[in-house]
Amino acid sequence: MLAIIGGSGLYSLGQDFHLLDQKSRKTPYGETSADVLLGRWHELGIAFLPRHGAGHRVPPHAVNYRANLWALKQAGVSRIIAVNAVGGIGTDMAPRTLALPHQLIDYSSGREHSFFDGDDGVVQHVDFSQPYSASLRNCLQQAAVQLGLVLVTSGTYGCTNGPRFETAAEIERMRRDGCSIVGMTGMPEAGLARELEIEYACLALVVNWAAGIDDSEISMEEIMANLEQGIQQLNPLLLAAARSIEA
Ligand code: HPA
Repeated sequence: MLAIIGGSGLYSLGQDFHLLDQKSRKTPYGETSADVLLGRWHELGIAFLPRHGAGHRVPPHAVNYRANLWALKQAGVSRIIAVNAVGGIGTDMAPRTLALPHQLIDYSSGREHSFFDGDDGVVQHVDFSQPYSASLRNCLQQAAVQLGLVLVTSGTYGCTNGPRFETAAEIERMRRDGCSIVGMTGMPEAGLARELEIEYACLALVVNWAAGIDDSEISMEEIMANLEQGIQQLNPLLLAAARSIEA
């Protein structure tokens, strides 16, 4: 089954989502951000989880990523499209751009980031050379073409800890490192999905220029306006991609 993890601005799949089952938040790793919702979205069986909880209560550094991913796996999820609001660093990442990163760099710290903590006496490592699923990325790319939507189909996601935004110097360093977008929630989510052998892709919506890229301060009003507008485009893209994934 496919799951959609909703980021900032995407707290539900709207009125075309019909709830069939709801999984409790309790897991061996603590509580998920919200109940995992299982339902029909149009003709598709889909799971949905809002990363920041219903009504955006959980900040990026406090999300229980392990509980969220574990609960999705338990619910029978084998593929995830994760939606993330990000800041734009690269010149092709202006606000309101939709992007499908192909790589990531993790600058976050202090987050529970692995299921393999050695408790069972076994040391495990997973390959993460290509952090995102090629087949899910391909479905999203094809769906954008089908809808005539502009989607930037490569880029490197830099994950910072938040909740503050970055300094201009931090963003300049990230730019030199090769990051084209910056967000606070891409990791450890993608890594945990890999540990659980869940295919995972990130669909990013750029909601502001990252710090120091243009002369203005980052404003929440600008971010909210871009989120609202961007989510309108994102919904049909998610649906078209979900249809081709489940086909
Ligand atoms: N930095 C980090 N995370 C973000 C940003 C940003 O500029 N915009 C949206 N999420």
